Amino acid sequence: MFVPIRVIARSFVVFQLLLCVFIGSNVAIAEPKVDYGIDANKLYQEFLAMPEAKKKKITQDFSRLLNSSGTVMRSNHFHGIQTWQNPFDVWVTQEIISEVKPDLILETGTFRGGSSLMWAMYLEQVSPDGRVITIDIEDKRVPRSKTHPLAAKVDFLLGSSTASDVVADVKRRAKGKRVLIILDSLHTKDHVADELANYADLVPVGGYIIIQDTPVGAIDAIHEFVAANDAFEIDKSRERLLYTFNLDGFLKRVK
Ligand SMILES: C[S@@+](CC[C@H](N)C(=O)[O-])C[C@H]1O[C@@H](n2cnc3c(N)ncnc32)[C@H](O)[C@@H]1O
Repeated sequence: MFVPIRVIARSFVVFQLLLCVFIGSNVAIAEPKVDYGIDANKLYQEFLAMPEAKKKKITQDFSRLLNSSGTVMRSNHFHGIQTWQNPFDVWVTQEIISEVKPDLILETGTFRGGSSLMWAMYLEQVSPDGRVITIDIEDKRVPRSKTHPLAAKVDFLLGSSTASDVVADVKRRAKGKRVLIILDSLHTKDHVADELANYADLVPVGGYIIIQDTPVGAIDAIHEFVAANDAFEIDKSRERLLYTFNLDGFLKRVK
């Protein structure tokens, strides 16, 4: 069939016009101009410029406010399973999982089992064969944690995270794996120091150890650990959402 060159040229012009309209409408969607009556960026910059002690007090006061009743954060659930996580920290953690692409996540502190399943959900997207190891001194998992479809990706170890047999088992399972560590068991200085001493070597360069609930003691263990170990640095950029239970708790392996 013969199609005149004029028709082809016109069709091309129409196609280009449609393309412009399509791109134009997308740009408009991507950059909505909404005036909320506050300069959010200015407020954020003012907060960042405050003395460290003041910044810490604001975030800690807010943290205490949410935790003091014992019902706010503790009512958080993942797929119906009670999960003691700060949603802001979960957001940052899933960003780290997406960037680092570990194939093994080691979590200490299982509780009901919700957080281990949640890490498995994020991990599956970047490492389809990835696994989560979760450790607790007591098996407090609810039945749903064991029957959930993601439970097949999670290995539960019973015992103290610092017991020599548990440490040896973890190291055997972690051989040759890119490990990301999330410490959420006993948050005392001594216990976290012990966990760091036992497991930090498993993390590859560029990887992370995420230490949770640091203000109740762990933060001192972190400061001593980084002072003695220049392979790890506190990555403050991971606290950009400001409301974190993991103050100084995002440790990046830099060498
Ligand atoms: C804060 S909860 C963990 C919360 C859980 N990751 C979640 O998001 O739902 C702390 C857990 O650590 C456990 N734990 C305490 N001491 C421990 C230890 N030495 N080794 C491993 N787990 C421990 C407790 O039994 C408790 O279940």
